[in-house]
Amino acid sequence: MDVKDGLKDVVATETSISRIELVDGKAILEYRGYDIHELAQNSTYEEVAYLLLFGELPSKSELELFTEELKERRELPPQVVGLLTHLSPFSHPMVALRTAVSYLGTMDRNIAYTSHEISIEKAKNLIAKFPTIVAYFHRIRMGEKLVHPNDDLGHAANFLYMLHGEEPTETMVRAMDLDFILHADHELNASTFAARVAASTLADMYACVVAATGTLIGPLHGGASQRVMEMLREVALPWRAEKYVQEKLERGERIMGFGHRVYRNVMDPRTIELKKLAKKLSEEKDSKWYEISEAIEEAVRKHKNLLPNVDFYSASVYANLGIPDDLFVNIFAIGRISGWTAHIIEQYENNSLIRPRAKYVGPKSRKYVPLSER
Ligand code: COA
Repeated sequence: MDVKDGLKDVVATETSISRIELVDGKAILEYRGYDIHELAQNSTYEEVAYLLLFGELPSKSELELFTEELKERRELPPQVVGLLTHLSPFSHPMVALRTAVSYLGTMDRNIAYTSHEISIEKAKNLIAKFPTIVAYFHRIRMGEKLVHPNDDLGHAANFLYMLHGEEPTETMVRAMDLDFILHADHELNASTFAARVAASTLADMYACVVAATGTLIGPLHGGASQRVMEMLREVALPWRAEKYVQEKLERGERIMGFGHRVYRNVMDPRTIELKKLAKKLSEEKDSKWYEISEAIEEAVRKHKNLLPNVDFYSASVYANLGIPDDLFVNIFAIGRISGWTAHIIEQYENNSLIRPRAKYVGPKSRKYVPLSER
């Protein structure tokens, strides 16, 4: 039995949702065949979510209808709002999100059905409600009044509006929208894999999304960006970055926001876009986060030859959008829910139970000793 630790380089399934390919020292990332840089520059999150779910870019009327459908689904059932008010205000917002997703499942009479039409309905519902759950829980834990969804605003703008209680600027909206696009899908990352494992047993979509949210929170996955922000705060000044990085590496610790299972020695295409965005926002907000991030990037390259991943520059983008550190992973989830649901549907429609083997390395064929003799 050959063991591939962490399933490194194992090709576990086929997908037509996103493609990562490394060619001549460069990485290509495409959603349904469309290059991430082109989508980042020209599309909106609503367009990308449609593309991931349906496989094609929407026509103008299809996009209008889809956008309307998302708007209609934004508000939460009162029971879910009640649940959020009963959670401990000290709960991590990602725990609140996954609890709310599970609770939404209790209210869906079609929970057990996995047909295409019903799954698409559930996906639209989750995509629309994720921002509301995150914004509501944040305001509830802060003891602030809820700000209800505003139908005049698009997905990204409405989220910032519900979170901050005031309409965001054009730059903030574009930044949030771009961030959601860049996080929307990424092939067989750990949380998507978790969702597909659950889907392969034909578990309901809520169960699959709970599995995904539970996996995303880990610091080696989406939880990294919160730790990046803690590092930026600790470094505090660009000239302190090199010493900080050196000392951390000498202690054998990992630098959060660096390294990637797939993009080894190749820049993650999402990082390229996020770095540009982080620079622009830091200049506009006159904040220090970009400069500190760049100094850390240089130091990590020099002392460990590692490149920043998607979570590294996200941190400074979120900080400049006024998002609290412990909401960073939730922001990732708001973007990724469209990819997760597209993968769950793909798994349902071409299913084979995901059940790998394990090589046993414990003691073998031992003789049972009765309790009285132990
Ligand atoms: N800081 C310091 N060293 C790192 C590192 C990091 N962030 N990421 C990888 N390395 C080192 C490992 O220590 C190892 O070094 P060694 O060969 O000298 O022992 C080598 O790089 C390979 O690491 P490995 O853990 O085998 O790679 P992986 O593919 O299993 O890990 C990650 C990928 C993402 C889990 C890993 O890079 C990491 O922990 N990054 C920090 C967390 C993070 O940013 N996660 C978000 C990912 S998008």
